[in-house]
Amino acid sequence: MITVQRGAISRISQWIPTDRKVMVVTDSGVPFKYAQAVLGCCPQGYCHVFEQGEDNKTLDTVRRILEDLLENGFTRSDAVIAVGGGVVGDVAGFAASCYMRGIDFYNVPTTLLSQVDSSIGGKTGVDFGGVKNVIGAFYMPKEVIIDPDCLSTLDPRLLHEGLAEAIKMAATSDASLFSFIEEAGPLEPRLDRIITGALAIKQAVVEADPKESGLRRVLNFGHTVGHAIEAASGGSGNPLFHGECVAAGMLYMCSDAVRARLEPLLRRYSLPVSDPFDVDSLLAYVGHDKKKQGSTITAVYVNEIGSFEFRNMNMEQMRQCIIKHKSAQL
Ligand SMILES: NC(=O)c1ccc[n+]([C@@H]2O[C@H](COP(=O)([O-])OP(=O)(O)OC[C@H]3O[C@@H](n4cnc5c(N)ncnc54)[C@H](O)[C@@H]3O)[C@@H](O)[C@H]2O)c1
Repeated sequence: MITVQRGAISRISQWIPTDRKVMVVTDSGVPFKYAQAVLGCCPQGYCHVFEQGEDNKTLDTVRRILEDLLENGFTRSDAVIAVGGGVVGDVAGFAASCYMRGIDFYNVPTTLLSQVDSSIGGKTGVDFGGVKNVIGAFYMPKEVIIDPDCLSTLDPRLLHEGLAEAIKMAATSDASLFSFIEEAGPLEPRLDRIITGALAIKQAVVEADPKESGLRRVLNFGHTVGHAIEAASGGSGNPLFHGECVAAGMLYMCSDAVRARLEPLLRRYSLPVSDPFDVDSLLAYVGHDKKKQGSTITAVYVNEIGSFEFRNMNMEQMRQCIIKHKSAQL
């Protein structure tokens, strides 16, 4: 079950049985008041805080959580609650999936990206050997409690990165949500509708394709070139966030009519609409993309807002596509 409700973080026992041992897992960048609010609902609450950042999404962090669970006598009927962004959710979910072969896991996501995307779908895990998310498990949270008020403390750049995910989902699957995001006016009061709309899309896709064997790839809109931009910008002083690369990547895989709406929307939220890399550099990275099957790559293409198609492209077609959209950046 997923609940989206302002103030929910202080009332989580409405949805989560808390009359047992509960380990609240959070990181050092999440304002502690959120973990405290959850702990306030847990008479037998424990708290595990690890250092913030993707660098800490490791097996070692999971090992420390498992040690904490064991040392405090957690049993199979106890629970883990993640309070934080995607890193906390992925790490805590993975720890919960393997402690005693799986104990109850709940997610209270506190970044917009984790609220609209990573908290549902059941993917948990860590980075390993320099590869992102390569060790993990599909492990569904029993409840996801989303409190949009938690976003008030989030850095605007992170808020907009999460919004890029919602824009991505609306562009492929919900024209009315896209129009709603396009409406003028402040973002904050519209967040609830944006979160529920994006969640509905992700949930429908995940239910149709729980193990990512087909339809779920629609969530990869923007990723084909976005990953190339991310890889190419990795060495620079101020690398773009993942969601920012995906935002710029979407503009390569859409019609002119879609671009005419998408570009101003991305600009409004300071999301990148171009990149400094030449066609050959991008192509070299696209060629390495893991979605390359044989000599073609399957990209998600949006011809009309609210719909998508999977396009099998060979490298020459990909080159032409990149050239076309590079010229539109000028
Ligand atoms: N499991 C999935 O399906 C899935 C999907 C997409 C992304 N992910 C993963 O999610 C991670 C990225 O998630 P993210 O963007 O949430 O990053 P994050 O978890 O690193 O959070 C970003 C920063 O914001 C801080 N923060 C969190 N909530 C806050 C709040 N309310 N106020 C102020 N600061 C807050 C965190 O401490 C952190 O420093 C990546 O590791 C990615 O691989 C997983």
